[in-house]
Amino acid sequence: NQVKKKLIAGNWKMNGSLAANEALVQALRAEIGAPGCDVAVCVPAPYLAQVQALVTGCPIALGAQDLSAHAQGAYTGEQSAGMLKDFGVRYAIVGHSERRQYHGESDEAVAAKTGAALAAGITPIVCVGETLAQREAGQTEEVVRRQLAAVIHSNGHCISEIVVAYEPVWAIGTGKTASPEQAQAVHAVLRAQLAHASAEAAARVRILYGGSMNAGNAQALLAQPDIDGGLIGGAALKAPDFLQIISAAR
Ligand code: G3P
Repeated sequence: NQVKKKLIAGNWKMNGSLAANEALVQALRAEIGAPGCDVAVCVPAPYLAQVQALVTGCPIALGAQDLSAHAQGAYTGEQSAGMLKDFGVRYAIVGHSERRQYHGESDEAVAAKTGAALAAGITPIVCVGETLAQREAGQTEEVVRRQLAAVIHSNGHCISEIVVAYEPVWAIGTGKTASPEQAQAVHAVLRAQLAHASAEAAARVRILYGGSMNAGNAQALLAQPDIDGGLIGGAALKAPDFLQIISAAR
């Protein structure tokens, strides 16, 4: 488990502009050197072409924040995995809690999107996580297991190709991080669930933590045995902070 290369992925969410993106990526490029981990930025769809060009020749992979479960057709407003591939996309976030919450994405929809990404050779970053009410009701384990089970169930033998991100909803954008122990406990549950699906999946799948990870708390979180990287929101918009998190993952 400790030999897996960590993955630090920025989720820009609905932030940025041509000018801001260029400044951010140039600042990252100037300092990133040869990172000891995999690095990605998941950018808003309109900026895929821009950021694809900006990251060319540097060790930052391009990611998307969502994709359609469908290959093509009458799905206004959506982007297919094939379209993302046209722009060099390597990772796609699926089932982020903001999509589950504001767009009503079900576990089944998230599982279908995961399958669409895998079929196109895009690595899905599958997000799971409980709300504060669910944690307080003692349902954390049940909720994340249900969310991951749907994805495992419909993606069978491909499951070792996914990345999982544990993002407790109460920690997202709140400045309130899960403690390293709280996060590790849930990551261990997810790892055991993957192991039940296949030994290969347990060994290969990287489980990222997301939720107010920043330059100050990254190191302690990333030191946990089952935390294989981070999915970073706010801190990924500031080059020095994102770079510090990358260094912490060496
Ligand atoms: O996907 C990343 C995310 O939801 C965490 O956001 O701003 O709490 O780092 P933030």
